[in-house]
Amino acid sequence: MDVLLESIILVILLFIVLLLAYCFHKIRRIDNNISEILFRVMKIQRTDLVDIFQQRQNLDILQHELSLTRPLPPTRGWAASPDFLLIIARHASEAKPDTVVECSSGTSTVVLASCLRENGKGHVYSLENDKAFAETTRSHLEREGLSEWATVLHAPLVRQDVGERQFSWYDHQNLPDSAIDMIIVDGPPHLVGNMARYPAGPKLFTRLADGGTVFADDADRSEEEATLAAWRQEFPTFQEGYHYCEKGCISFRKPDTP
Ligand SMILES: C[S@@+](CC[C@H](N)C(=O)[O-])C[C@H]1O[C@@H](n2cnc3c(N)ncnc32)[C@H](O)[C@@H]1O
Repeated sequence: MDVLLESIILVILLFIVLLLAYCFHKIRRIDNNISEILFRVMKIQRTDLVDIFQQRQNLDILQHELSLTRPLPPTRGWAASPDFLLIIARHASEAKPDTVVECSSGTSTVVLASCLRENGKGHVYSLENDKAFAETTRSHLEREGLSEWATVLHAPLVRQDVGERQFSWYDHQNLPDSAIDMIIVDGPPHLVGNMARYPAGPKLFTRLADGGTVFADDADRSEEEATLAAWRQEFPTFQEGYHYCEKGCISFRKPDTP
């Protein structure tokens, strides 16, 4: 009887030891998984923080280089990011364009108008499909005393024929007829449809003055690949440049006539 009892106790003890070993193994695996998840989250957060810090620095540089009395309207998200704004601001300050046309208004309009005011010449024409957004951009310009340097044209998206194809693009009939020195393509929003920004090529690039330059935002976005490929094919003499920024920026420069 004693031997039987001892055996039962031994089996129970062995079972408990095995159970504890199993639990310990499971807990270690869960702990490892949690550590790995935490490591990944912290890595993403670190990358985000570096990006935010760089954008903050670009915003400070931009505010310093522009002679504005107030902080810029919101940047990033739907608006252009500080790094892209800095690229176009520096070009506008160096190239001193007479006529600037941009697709979609906002913070970029304020930045460009401020550069032209510093240059003492030039005018920005901003095509904006959204009436309320156009009004908001006008009020930003007004608050900075920049209204005489930029005109926001309410340009609803209408059917535009390019060869055999139809697109929904800005009604740009109110643009002046003059040659264009600088074009910024930051609209229409890609939600409008496939190759939403492509018509800027046939409708605007064809009007570029010699040495005129196009800056396209969001160039790293997969939705823009087909548009960029079509522009490269249709304007093979334009010199292309890639400018590192968070959404990607491609420039196309029309060469000077020899
Ligand atoms: C593509 S973003 C770029 C604007 C400008 N280039 C800038 O630097 O701010 C502006 C366009 O997005 C649209 N938009 C702005 N905020 C939006 C929102 N929350 N939802 C949908 N469309 C919006 C506006 O109609 C405008 O034409």
